[in-house]
Amino acid sequence: MDWNEDIFVSWCWVLLQFHINMNHSAQIRSAKKEVSMIRIGMLTSGGDCQALNAAMRGVAKGLFNAGKEVELFGFLDGYKGLIYGKYKMLSPSDFSGILTKGGTILGSSRMPFKNMRDPDENGLDKVEAMKHNYYKLSLDCLVILGGNGTHKTANLLREEGLNVVTLPKTIDNDLWGTDMTFGFQSAVDIATQCIDQIHTTAASHGRVFIVEVMGHKVGYLTLNAGIAGGADIILIPEIPYDINKIIKAIQKRSERGSKFTILAVAEGAISKEVAALSKKEFKKYMADYKYPSVSYEIADKIKEKSGMEVRVTVPGHTQRGGSPDPYDRVFASRLGAEASKLILKGEYGYMVGYQNREVVKVPLQDVAGKLKMVDPDSTIIKEAKMLGISFGAVSYTHLTL
Ligand code: F6P
Repeated sequence: MDWNEDIFVSWCWVLLQFHINMNHSAQIRSAKKEVSMIRIGMLTSGGDCQALNAAMRGVAKGLFNAGKEVELFGFLDGYKGLIYGKYKMLSPSDFSGILTKGGTILGSSRMPFKNMRDPDENGLDKVEAMKHNYYKLSLDCLVILGGNGTHKTANLLREEGLNVVTLPKTIDNDLWGTDMTFGFQSAVDIATQCIDQIHTTAASHGRVFIVEVMGHKVGYLTLNAGIAGGADIILIPEIPYDINKIIKAIQKRSERGSKFTILAVAEGAISKEVAALSKKEFKKYMADYKYPSVSYEIADKIKEKSGMEVRVTVPGHTQRGGSPDPYDRVFASRLGAEASKLILKGEYGYMVGYQNREVVKVPLQDVAGKLKMVDPDSTIIKEAKMLGISFGAVSYTHLTL
C-alpha cells in the first residue's frame, strides 16, 4: 500500500465511523420521538348535536398544548370511518374557528350496536376491521363522541382490548352516568324559542297548540323546554298520559278565561293505554299506526272530544342544528380538556361525565346499555305541578310534595 492508498483507506474509515455514528444518533432520536409521540383517533357517531366541534377542539387543544408530539386521526362519518379506514389527519389549524360551529367536522352516521357483530354486505367482520385499523395506525387511544348506542359500541371496543375515552353528546340528555350531556342546553334553547313564538299566535286565535319536542324515549328536553316556554301541559314518556285529563286541563283553563292552551309533547309521549300493552301488542299497534307522530293523534282526540281548534308544530331537527349556546360551548370545552388529561395520563376506558357540578370519569362498562330517564317523583316534576303545569295524569296535590 503506498502513501496515497493509505490516506484513502483512513478517510474511508473515518467516513464509515461518521456514518455509523450519525445513524446511531438518528435511531436514538427516532426512539425518543416514538416515546414522546402519541397517536390518537377521534370519531363522532350517532345523531349530531351542537358543541360536538367544541368538544373535539377541547380534546385537541388539550393534547397539542401538552408539549408532546401528537398525531391526530379523524375518522369520517362515525364508526364507518374506523371500519373502512377512512380518515384524515388533523392539525391544530383544523380546530381553529370551530368552537361556535354546529354539526361535526368529521361527519357522523348511525350504526346500530345490535348489528355491529353482523358482517357487512361484503362479509367484512366490522369489529375485527375496527381493531385492524386501530393497530395498523398504532393508535394509543380512540376518542369517541356519542350517545347511547355509540357508548355500547365504545364499550365493546374496550372489551376487545382497545384504549377508549368517550364524551357524552346528545340533545336527549339520556346518557347514564352524567347529569348533563352537551347539545342538550342548546336544544332546550331552540325548543323553548319555538314555544315562545307559538304563544302569540295561539293567543290571537284562541287555539290549542301542540309543540312536539325531540328526545327519543325520554322527556328531559320536553320537560325543560316546556317549563322554560311556559307550556300549560307537558307530556313525557315517563308519565303516560290520560287523554281525558288533558281535555280537563284545557277546559279548566277556558273556564278561568284563558283562550288558548299550549302543550309541549315529547316525541316519545305515550298514553296510559299504550303503556299497558305487551311488547307483542305494541309492535302490532305501531304497525297499524296511522299518524305521522303522537302529537297528531293527541290533536285529533282533543278536536274530537272538545271541539277546539288544534294545531301541531314540529321543530324537528332544528333542535339539533346551528351554533351551540354559551353553556354548551363552555361545557363541551371543559369535557374535551378533561378527556385530553385522561389520555395524557394513560387512563383509558372512561366516559368524561358531569355529576354534582364536577367533571368526573365514569367507567364505560357502567355507562353502556343504560338509559337515564326523568324520575316522575323528582323535585322538578313536583315543582312543575306546583306551577300549575298538567302532565295529563294524576292532578297536583300539595300532599305529594
Ligand atoms: O338522539 C337525538 C335525536 O335527535 C332524538 O331526539 C331523535 O329521536 C333522533 O335523534 C332522530 O334521529 P334521526 O336524526 O336519525 O332522524
